[in-house]
Amino acid sequence: MIKNTQTSFGLISKALHWSMALLLTILFIMGLYMTGLDYYDPLYHSLPWWHKSIGLLVIILLLIRVTWRLSNQQPEALKTHKQWEQSLAHFIQQLFYLLIFLIVLSGYFIATAKGKGIEFFNLLEIPAITTEIKEETADLIGNSHEIMAILFALFVVLHAMAALKHHFIDKDKTLIRMMTK
Ligand code: HEM
Repeated sequence: MIKNTQTSFGLISKALHWSMALLLTILFIMGLYMTGLDYYDPLYHSLPWWHKSIGLLVIILLLIRVTWRLSNQQPEALKTHKQWEQSLAHFIQQLFYLLIFLIVLSGYFIATAKGKGIEFFNLLEIPAITTEIKEETADLIGNSHEIMAILFALFVVLHAMAALKHHFIDKDKTLIRMMTK
């Protein structure tokens, strides 16, 4: 089952959900770790390279995901989903899309602040669209990048706890239909 149905998520939605969840977790941990590295650490240059390439991969996946979501029906809510839970879940899901976009966009501006492009793995270079950005502006973008990433992580914890609550307390199919049939 490639597409979503009225009752379950299809293969593409599941693959996009779990691959992005994994990549975003890796990006978050990498981001936190990178801030503590000193210049002579061997990872000082390689980790940011991976962080930027994976960040660009995430924005490509996000574009595919939003297109897929808009062109596909969403499975209906289960009977155990209360109205307030549905509204909150919907709000957080929209917030995820917005935050991922803004986090990657701010990351792009930090990485190109000196007017240099970003390498997407060893495949191609994404050019900078600005010449040099003022240091105070770059710092401001850097701080927003970090704050948005932390906010995002907090919402992910809330989202995951809600999924686990449905699984273990309500004992419904919320988590199962995002994983298997
Ligand atoms: C970075 C991490 C995550 C992000 C960005 C994320 C995002 C989303 C989004 C946007 C949806 C709506 C469906 C869609 O558009 O694909 C969704 C659904 C769902 N997510 Fe996540 N998710 C993440 C991690 C997790 C984790 C760790 C769990 C479980 C422990 C989980 C469980 C679920 C479940 C069960 C649904 C289906 C809810 C329903 O039936 O309405 N997600 N997620």
